[in-house]
Amino acid sequence: MQVLQSIKELKAFRESLGAQSVGLVPTMGALHKGHLSLISESSRHNAHTIVSVFVNPTQFGQNEDLSTYPRTLEQDLALCENLGVSAVFAPSVEEMYASDDEIAILPPKMMGYVLEGFDRPTHFAGVLQVVIKLFMLTRPHKAYFGKKDAQQVLIVQKMIRDLHLPLEIVACPIVRDDDGLALSSRNVYLSAQERESALCIPRTIERIESAINQGVLETKELENLARQTLDSSKSLTPIHIFYAYFCDHSLAPIARIKRGESLFLLAVRVGRTRLLDNLWC
Ligand code: PAF
Repeated sequence: MQVLQSIKELKAFRESLGAQSVGLVPTMGALHKGHLSLISESSRHNAHTIVSVFVNPTQFGQNEDLSTYPRTLEQDLALCENLGVSAVFAPSVEEMYASDDEIAILPPKMMGYVLEGFDRPTHFAGVLQVVIKLFMLTRPHKAYFGKKDAQQVLIVQKMIRDLHLPLEIVACPIVRDDDGLALSSRNVYLSAQERESALCIPRTIERIESAINQGVLETKELENLARQTLDSSKSLTPIHIFYAYFCDHSLAPIARIKRGESLFLLAVRVGRTRLLDNLWC
C-alpha cells in the first residue's frame, strides 16, 4: 500500500493505474467500521481503492471541533493495509489549499442551507470544495459515501449531476454499534452516561421504521411519534433536538411517505456532541 502525502505523488500514482477501475473513499480519518464497510464495498467493485484521510478545515465553522477532531493516522493506515487498499492519500492542509486558493463551489440554494446547513452555513461549501479537488486528483470511477450523512450524499450527487462529473456516487448503508448507535468518529466525545442517553436516537429510528411498516405514512403523525420517543426517553443527560424532519431526496418537506423516495432525518445534541441519524424510507 502506498502512503501519499503530496499531490505530485498522488498524480503519479493515479497515472500508473491507467484505465483500471478506481474507487475513492474520502474520509477525515479516525476510521471506524462504517468507513471500513465503504472500503470493502469499493474493493469488491474496483481494481484499486484509494482512501483519502484529510481533516478538511474549510468545512468546520468557527466554533466547531477542528482542533480536537480525532486524528489517528497510524491506526488508519494499518486498517487500510489490512483491507487491501492500494493507496492512502493523507496530505497536509498546505498541500490541499494553496495560500491563494479561492475558487469554491456554491452548494444548492435550498439543500445546502437547511438542516445541517442551517446551523452550519459554510459547511457544505467546504465539503464540496475538498470533494471536487479529491475527485479531480484521483479521477475515480466510483466514490463511496455513508448514508448516515444523508444531506452530504444528496448534495454531492447533485454536484455530480449539475457539473456532469464523470463518476458515480455510491451511497452505502449506515453501520451501527451493537447498542444501535450509528457509527461516527464523533462518538468518542460521548461520556458513558451521554452514550446511554444517545440510545434514544436509534430507538426513535426503529420506532419510526416499524410505524411506517405498519402503514403509518402521514409525516405529522410520524414526527409526533419521533418527538414523543425522544422526549420520553429517560435521559440521564439533557438532549436537544435540532430537527426531526421528513423530506424527499431534494430535502423538500413531505406530508406523506412515498416508499423508496422519502427520508427521515434526525439531528440531536447530547451533552456537547451533535449526533445525526436517519432512515431512508
Ligand atoms: O464525510 C466526511 O468525512 C467528509 O465530509 C468528507 C466527505 C471526507 C469531506 O471532507
